[in-house]
Amino acid sequence: MQFQDKVVLVTGGSSGLGLAIAQELAGQGAHLVITGRRQEQLDEAVSTLGNHATAVVADVSSAGDLNALINQIESRHGRIDVLVANAGMGELAPLGSITEAHFDRVFNTNVKGVAFTVQGALPLMGNGGSIVIIGSTASINPGPGLGVYGATKAALRALVRSWVLDIKGSGVRINLLSPGPVNTESLHNMLAEHAEEVIRSLSEKSTLGRIGEAQEIGKAVAFLASDASSYINGVELFADGGASQV
Ligand SMILES: NC(=O)c1ccc[n+]([C@@H]2O[C@H](COP(=O)([O-])OP(=O)(O)OC[C@H]3O[C@@H](n4cnc5c(N)ncnc54)[C@H](OP(=O)(O)O)[C@@H]3O)[C@@H](O)[C@H]2O)c1
Repeated sequence: MQFQDKVVLVTGGSSGLGLAIAQELAGQGAHLVITGRRQEQLDEAVSTLGNHATAVVADVSSAGDLNALINQIESRHGRIDVLVANAGMGELAPLGSITEAHFDRVFNTNVKGVAFTVQGALPLMGNGGSIVIIGSTASINPGPGLGVYGATKAALRALVRSWVLDIKGSGVRINLLSPGPVNTESLHNMLAEHAEEVIRSLSEKSTLGRIGEAQEIGKAVAFLASDASSYINGVELFADGGASQV
């Protein structure tokens, strides 16, 4: 149980990849704190994470919510061992249909949210700590309609490359895990009536002939979060069945 009694914060831990990541780490002994904007979904998720899990309603695009979250974790646990900055969203908006509201929503959640989550959590982290940020292969290959989303994930690459230098010597590692398409409700919802056709084409692009499963992302995060990756720092690791390598 490599996460025995470790304090792990997973933002957006109430569904999809975040929930699978939380379940993987809870299964290895971690004390989970998960966040999201909807209490009911959080309660449901916590009920699958064992006795040590708690949930805090916090919108990552609000610096005030994030301050309150970090204060709660500090008074309850006194530290954070692992931070998984996962909360994020995607929306299709081809060039010509990009609105200011879409742009702000996606950047505020995926970039501003990650920046202030990491900055807020860092003072509670110490030697041996690990930060895993959930990116996307859209950082290098966004595909049609995903320009703004891809730009947010490319921004995370730039942030990690700079931050790894900013926190040099702290003993805290920081890496980006970038999944390819994963079989989640959010992916199906985004693709709507084209889901079946697009997923077939995405599966063909993967050298494994399929899209990913959320549990596989949970295991990849566990690797980056654990001492098994103790000499890996500042990378973008693609978990995409090899699609970005060919
Ligand atoms: N699914 C994929 O194929 C895929 C592929 C590559 C990368 N990703 C990345 O993986 C991450 C998770 O995506 P997912 O597919 O698992 O999506 P999801 O099922 O929609 O889960 C998103 C989670 O984030 C929370 N969330 C969303 N906006 C938030 C906000 N402003 N503040 C706090 N929490 C927020 C949601 O809860 P509430 O709605 O209650 O707030 C939920 O817990 C994202 O960063 C996404 O870009 C996904």
